[in-house]
Amino acid sequence: MTSEIHHTQSVGRYRDVFRRSVEDPESFWLEATMQIDWDAAPTRAVDDSNAPLYRWFPDGVLNTSYNCLDRHVAAGFGDRPALIHDAPLAPEGQQRTAYTYAELTEDVARCAGMLRAAGVNAGDRVVVYLPMIPAAAITMLACARLGAVHSMVFGGFAPKELAARIDDAQPTAVVTATGGVEPTRRIEYLPAVAEALRLATHRVEAVVVKHRDGFETAVADVSAQSAPTHWLDWDDAITQADAVAPVPVRATDPLYILYTSGTTGAPKGVVRDHGGHAVALRWSMENIYDVGPGQVMFTASDVGWVVGHSYIVYAPLLAGATSILYEGKPVGTPDAGAFWRLIEEYGVRSFFTAPTALRAVRKTDPDGLLREGRDLSSLKTLFVAGERLDPETQRWAADLLGVPVVDNWWQTETGWPIGANPVGLEPLPIKEGSCTVPSPGYAVEVLDALGKPVGPGEEGNICLKLPMAPGNLPTLWGNDQRFIDSYLTAFDGYYATGDSGYIDDDGYLFVMGRTDDVINVSGHRLSTGALEQALASHPAVAECAVIGLDDQLKGQRPFGYVVLKSGVEVPGSGSTAEEELLAQLRATVRESVGAVADFKEVAIVEALPKTRSGKILRKTMRQLAQGDEMKVPSTIEDATVLDALAPILRRAR
Ligand code: COA
Ligand code: AMP
Repeated sequence: MTSEIHHTQSVGRYRDVFRRSVEDPESFWLEATMQIDWDAAPTRAVDDSNAPLYRWFPDGVLNTSYNCLDRHVAAGFGDRPALIHDAPLAPEGQQRTAYTYAELTEDVARCAGMLRAAGVNAGDRVVVYLPMIPAAAITMLACARLGAVHSMVFGGFAPKELAARIDDAQPTAVVTATGGVEPTRRIEYLPAVAEALRLATHRVEAVVVKHRDGFETAVADVSAQSAPTHWLDWDDAITQADAVAPVPVRATDPLYILYTSGTTGAPKGVVRDHGGHAVALRWSMENIYDVGPGQVMFTASDVGWVVGHSYIVYAPLLAGATSILYEGKPVGTPDAGAFWRLIEEYGVRSFFTAPTALRAVRKTDPDGLLREGRDLSSLKTLFVAGERLDPETQRWAADLLGVPVVDNWWQTETGWPIGANPVGLEPLPIKEGSCTVPSPGYAVEVLDALGKPVGPGEEGNICLKLPMAPGNLPTLWGNDQRFIDSYLTAFDGYYATGDSGYIDDDGYLFVMGRTDDVINVSGHRLSTGALEQALASHPAVAECAVIGLDDQLKGQRPFGYVVLKSGVEVPGSGSTAEEELLAQLRATVRESVGAVADFKEVAIVEALPKTRSGKILRKTMRQLAQGDEMKVPSTIEDATVLDALAPILRRAR
């Protein structure tokens, strides 16, 4: 089934634009380049000379930070708010900081000067381990200004994961802060950074630390462990730094690396280029998110995730809009009315969050009492992504807010929606359970296991016909072959998204779930492989399996099942010894992957069901645990193992 729109009801404009984007991508995207300022404007859109590796705008030269900042100042909009940091947990008087375009340009130029003085030049990498504070956006844009490549790491990851990213990206510098603030605790970042530097084999030249009040660890406590790395204080260094002008780079040069979970424990370094990214994101702002210059977008995600990269930092600024950087939670900071407060206070036009965040708000305030009395008339659309939007949450939010609730489906790899309701271009009727239609630029097809297109309504592998749209990953960092093997080999001529789903008679796309062992917890993508690797590192564990089970709040939750090594005895279920071991197993995952894994459920079992070739039947375990229709493969080695496991798996429901 291909992504052709069949019905004509209200789909005139979208249909024409979509058709042109896939039939003549060259002229479609060259036209879109007009929205970007170039040092050398591209004369070609896509370079297919090295297929299946494609490059966008091969002869274009630009600077992304110039496009996000300086050009708006030059156009006379220096006084317009660019970024507003809203931090409800900060001390009185520090809860709101607003930057105009002129101020943000100045700070980014100085930050670029600071990084250059620390040894960072065009092409060098900078690992950024920062919470949701302005320094995060400033550092990203400063790297872009220098032509350096940033790699953000979410604060919920453990030192081992940070070290793995440092070793893969080989950064010249790490930028961090003394800590991050969670509703229930303060998270000290410096010990984690020092530990990651100790674990990594790569030597980092400099660590820049943004000091925040209220954290215990000082640079002096940790810097000696990581000699000869220089530790710099952000505030001192930035005051002494010169402002740096934007460095022109090729459109095909890397802007950032963002690591994401694959099916194995080794994270994949998704690369984003400058040119395709700027063109696609700029285009998406007006056509999908319906936000233009001077309008306000609030994306409640984290800058450590792709949604944060694209729609907290780059896209709103490329469009000359105002972006809200919210260092808070959907609930508990201080209450479930936080989102509504922000929308009213800042006049938000487009609000973007994850379904899990809405479910958290709904659980706490099901009748929306905290929305009462708020003037939300600025709000035109609520966008959600990160996981499937369940119809109940969609209805609840639409009733509460009185605006369309628009699902959009994408991945770290694509950088912007593969499927969405193109509200800015032409609002299409919403169908529950569907992310609406393929975005212009994405030739979406649903293929069976042999690579043949399936019929309308039939589920299969959702694939993107090559070349993928601009802004999508050109490769994995330093590893073209892994990129080809992971995404481009299963279906010749296509990128395999790893998601399954179908396209209905009207051309609407329904994304149903992953085809691999990637799970989605609170809108965060996790690899069960990485969790298993952590569990397996415990000395008592012989083998293990982690599966993701449906969860009413978080979408999915990871459940671990471990078989102990022979000779390791645990007396009886519920015994203190067993509880201690289970606590150790949870702690092992937390130490190894991080709090973000949210790994709380683990059980000791006698054996795991396997095929005769030794493959653990995770899918069958999941079906059994959830009470779904179960298909036991004929290749199962010993069906009695599954029978014995059944009561334990059912307990997870
Ligand atoms: N740094 C360090 N630790 C972090 C962290 C960060 N930036 N973010 C989360 N954590 C920790 C939490 O403190 C928690 O630790 P705990 O086990 O000690 O309590 C753990 O990671 C899990 O946190 P979280 O996933 O946030 O679960 P929660 O139960 O605290 O909150 C929600 C549930 C739904 C409110 C929350 O997950 C949420 O806001 N989700 C939205 C996610 C989102 O916007 N995703 C964007 C994808 S587009
Ligand atoms: P990430 O790369 O972390 O953004 O995770 C991407 C994965 O999350 C996708 O491959 C999907 O499995 C899932 N996902 C994201 N958005 C949606 C959505 N709107 N509907 C269904 N699944 C989604």
